[in-house]
Amino acid sequence: MRDTFLPFARPSVDEDAIADIADSVRSGWLAMGPKTLKFEQTFAEYTGAPYALAVNSATAGLHCALMALGVGPGDEVITTPMTFASTANTIIFTGAKPVFADIDRNTRDITPESIENAVTKRTKAIVPVHFAGLPCDMDAIEEIAERHGLAIVEDAAHALGASYKGRKIGAPRGKRRAAVFSFHPTKNITTGEGGMICTGDEEMAEKISALRQNGMSKGAWNRYGEKGDAGYDILMPGLKYTMTDIQAAIGNSQMKRLAEFNARRAGIVRRYMTELADVRGLILPRRAPWEYVHSWHIFTPLIDVAELGFSRAEFMARMKRLNIGTALHYQALHLFPCYERLTGAKRGSLPEAEYVSERIVSLPLFPAMTDADVSDVIKAVREVCSR
Ligand SMILES: Cc1ncc(COP(=O)(O)O)c(C=O)c1O
Repeated sequence: MRDTFLPFARPSVDEDAIADIADSVRSGWLAMGPKTLKFEQTFAEYTGAPYALAVNSATAGLHCALMALGVGPGDEVITTPMTFASTANTIIFTGAKPVFADIDRNTRDITPESIENAVTKRTKAIVPVHFAGLPCDMDAIEEIAERHGLAIVEDAAHALGASYKGRKIGAPRGKRRAAVFSFHPTKNITTGEGGMICTGDEEMAEKISALRQNGMSKGAWNRYGEKGDAGYDILMPGLKYTMTDIQAAIGNSQMKRLAEFNARRAGIVRRYMTELADVRGLILPRRAPWEYVHSWHIFTPLIDVAELGFSRAEFMARMKRLNIGTALHYQALHLFPCYERLTGAKRGSLPEAEYVSERIVSLPLFPAMTDADVSDVIKAVREVCSR
């Protein structure tokens, strides 16, 4: 057994980021400024998005994108129950109602068929989540959105570096389309907390730019700087969702290592897929039939409780006793009473999500894992499952 605890995720932040944070602090410009603008530019070039707008979390980004689309009271927004709370919460905080559509148990992504079945006269938008970094079947989802005149906000919190049919997630998809990324410390890159909204829709970009700074036409950096002009307009009521230059300092350093980080993630997953393939009671993630590049934010096999003879909680506890951390992404949202109350979705109504929700577990996956760490996880899973 290893003698130190291996967490399920840990960020890798370089010394140049730490030096650049210190530079921001010493410069006296700590809020959104030149480093955030550089981060947005780098991100836009990487994804191919004409507009990349930095915010202080993906939660803020999803909220801004939905607000910019005019989603509000009386509207419905179709999304997946296999996601983090913020996907549904941001819909709720626009005043709209989240409508959960079922997933596919192999890809864990929302399916076009279930989206189609959930469309009503009130539907305004679809929020697909690229689960773990496996892109949803966007052509099919796009076709439904086109046919019903719906907007699409991709929850790309897991999907930085992923691509669908040769196009990066975040690349422009047309009007009333956006993709939102997260830089929480467990994600493919981090800024401590942070998010980015990518869009090709100029009108959406302009609205988001104002919405993230209390609806103001100009940010502090172009009002108070040497060349700034103190005048401003308030275009609409907004919120304070801007990224700081301290966060962007980390982001600028992280972007330089994104390709390397994602290659390492994929390499670790290749070992898991090969060396855990014969483990009884473990169902490994499956491929989707469309063409894509996976960004492997998390590695989430399913625990076959009937085969193993003990619960997932017991699996996680046994892994912990062997000094290996695991995590739970996610308990399907409609199984929490607060979302059942708000959406009316009851247990039994989303069987594929419930199947996955009861069995899923996340094994350690982060770029700084050594080959020995990966071997320790594999050994621990084999040992726990063989008992
Ligand atoms: C699928 C999904 N959506 C949204 C979010 C929210 O991201 P953030 O923590 O940056 O607000 C997360 C974060 O874990 C997530 O996993």
